[in-house]
Amino acid sequence: MKILGIESSCDETACAVVEDGKRVLSNIVASQIDEHRLYGGVVPEIASRRHAENISWVARAALDEAGLTMNDIDAVAVTYAPGLIGALLVGVSFAKGLAMSADKPLVPVHHIAGHIASNYISHPELKPPYLCLVASGGHSHIVEVKDYTRYHVVGRTRDDAAGECFDKAARTLGYEYPGGKFIDAAAKLGDPDAYKLPKPRVQGSEYDFSFSGLKTAVINLVHNAAQKGEEINREDMAASFQKTVAQTLVEKTMLAAENLGYTTVALAGGVSANSGVRELLKQECEKRGFELYMPELKYCGDNGAMIACQGYFDYLAGKRADESLNGIATLSLDKISEEDD
Ligand code: KG4
Ligand code: ZN
Repeated sequence: MKILGIESSCDETACAVVEDGKRVLSNIVASQIDEHRLYGGVVPEIASRRHAENISWVARAALDEAGLTMNDIDAVAVTYAPGLIGALLVGVSFAKGLAMSADKPLVPVHHIAGHIASNYISHPELKPPYLCLVASGGHSHIVEVKDYTRYHVVGRTRDDAAGECFDKAARTLGYEYPGGKFIDAAAKLGDPDAYKLPKPRVQGSEYDFSFSGLKTAVINLVHNAAQKGEEINREDMAASFQKTVAQTLVEKTMLAAENLGYTTVALAGGVSANSGVRELLKQECEKRGFELYMPELKYCGDNGAMIACQGYFDYLAGKRADESLNGIATLSLDKISEEDD
């Protein structure tokens, strides 16, 4: 079964064709980052306009690269939540038009479920149930993946997402947006014990995250040093910061896995590309004899293949949308599971 996946929730216009939820026949990503970089972050209005300009050719390119036409496609899957509302609406409207004109089923896909599904592309042998750490620019979650379409979020961030924290720390250190990957590269050259940063703590829930205090600590250290005319070693700060984020994400995930009885753990979201997070998660899973699954680097960031892959499982579970489908800016994974129950 061949599914055309469409993703436009943030700043990448992406379309892909995936067969049976695992064989990627094409995967086209048109990134707008160069334009948003000028403003130090994603400008929603610009994002919507660029999606509208790009979506037709990106979908056409995905079909062409797969050597297919719409006649060969069995269903259209589209990200409908969560994300920037104007950006989501471009993908949703395009997908509705395409599905209706080609007389194909339309499958609504949750963006975070898509990130989790990127693991099925890289590791078709992975089967629920398992525990997934999702860390992206907009979300930091610890999720019980109960089956391919049912989730329970056991931990979430109280303030900034992990990726957001990476990007803000990177900006303070003078790196361009989005700076997560620059921190990752710089951290490889630095001493992770050079700067003492606070380990974020959260009252009330042992699996929730809080990253704003850590972000503020980096900002204060950098500004205080500047006021005293002292130099901050960027590589050392990047390494110390990355180590603290990785420890926080991984410690809570290990605690949740142990307490909830999971021995299979997965990682997903843009921050899953981070070498420090990947390495620490690998070490800690090995120590405990846990099986660990991580997406290949090319499927860590936003892409259409993960949406087509999750679309396959949602299709099998009977999820369908019609012309009334709308974009939704905020929608918890728990909520879509409740609708199923
Ligand atoms: O999942 P994603 O592509 O978009 C959202 O759904 O938010 O995640 C983007 C985030 C950005 O904050 C970006 O800086 C971060 O993922 N990111 C990284 C790395 N690559 C991307 N953060 C740390 N290390 C990386 N190598
Ligand atoms: Zn994403």
